[in-house]
Amino acid sequence: MDFDNRTALVTGAGQGMGLGIAQRLASQGARVLINDIDPDRAHAAVLAIESEGGRADTAAFDVTDIDTVLAAVKELERRAGGIDILVNNAGNAGSEAMNQLPFKDMPHQDWDKFLAVNLYGVLNCSKAVVSGMCDRGWGRIITISSEAGRVGLDINVALYGVAKAGGAHLMRHLAREVGPFGVTANNVSLGLMDNVPAEFADAIVRTIPIRRLGTPADAAAAVAWLASEEAAWVTGQTLVVNGGSYAF
Ligand SMILES: NC(=O)c1ccc[n+]([C@@H]2O[C@H](COP(=O)([O-])OP(=O)(O)OC[C@H]3O[C@@H](n4cnc5c(N)ncnc54)[C@H](O)[C@@H]3O)[C@@H](O)[C@H]2O)c1
Repeated sequence: MDFDNRTALVTGAGQGMGLGIAQRLASQGARVLINDIDPDRAHAAVLAIESEGGRADTAAFDVTDIDTVLAAVKELERRAGGIDILVNNAGNAGSEAMNQLPFKDMPHQDWDKFLAVNLYGVLNCSKAVVSGMCDRGWGRIITISSEAGRVGLDINVALYGVAKAGGAHLMRHLAREVGPFGVTANNVSLGLMDNVPAEFADAIVRTIPIRRLGTPADAAAAVAWLASEEAAWVTGQTLVVNGGSYAF
C-alpha cells in the first residue's frame, strides 16, 4: 500500500482519529493536506507529521460552509495538484457540541449543529473533490461514520446518528455514480473510540468483545486499506471497525 504519488485531504485531522489517519497515510508516502477548523491544531498536526518524515500541509477551513469548501479545495488543487484521496473525518462525536439529549428533550434549534458537520461537511467536501477525481480517472472518498449511524442506540445520540447515516448513505449513491470513472466511495463505521470521557466509556467497554476502546490506529488501518489499490473493487460499502460490537 504505497501512496507516494497520492495527495490526501483529511478533514478534522488536527487531533483524534483524523490525526491518526493522516499520520498513517503520510507514513505510506502520501502528501497529506491537514484540514481542521482550528488552524493552530492543523499546524501542530503538520509539524508532527513532518517530524516523522512525512509530507503535510495545512488546509484549515470550516467544512460546513459550501462556498468556503469549494474555494479552499480549488486553491489546494492549484497548489498541490489534484486531490486523490478525501477522508471525510470531521465530526463532533465527543465534543461539547455533541450535547447528548433524548430526542424528545432536544430543541429543534439544536439539530443543525449535528447536521452541519456530520452531514453537510461530507456533502460539501465530496462535492468539491469528486469532479476532479472523475476527470483524472482515479479517486478514493472515505467517510468516517459511526455505529450511531448504523444501529439505534440508547445513549441520546439520535441527531448525531441521523447525520452520520446521511453522510454514509451518500457514499452508497456516489459509489454507483462514480465507479465507472475509477473512483470509489466507502465508509468506515467506528465504534467507541479511546477519546470519549472515561465515565461514559467504562460501562460500554465491557460490552465490546475485544474488551478495549478503538484507537486512531484502528481507524487509520481501515482507511489506508480502502484508499489503496488493493481495495479497487470495493465500493459503496461500510467497513465496520467496532471491536466486535453489533456483529451484523
Ligand atoms: N470518538 C469516537 O468514539 C467516535 C465514534 C464513532 C465515530 N467517530 C467519528 O470519528 C471522527 C473523528 O472523531 P474524533 O473522536 O477524532 O473527534 P475529535 O473531536 O477528537 O476531532 C475532530 C476534529 O474535527 C475538527 N472539526 C470539527 N468541526 C469541524 C469543521 N466544521 N470543519 C473542520 N474541522 C472540524 C475539530 O476541530 C477536531 O480537531 C468523527 O467523524 C466522529 O464522528 C468518533
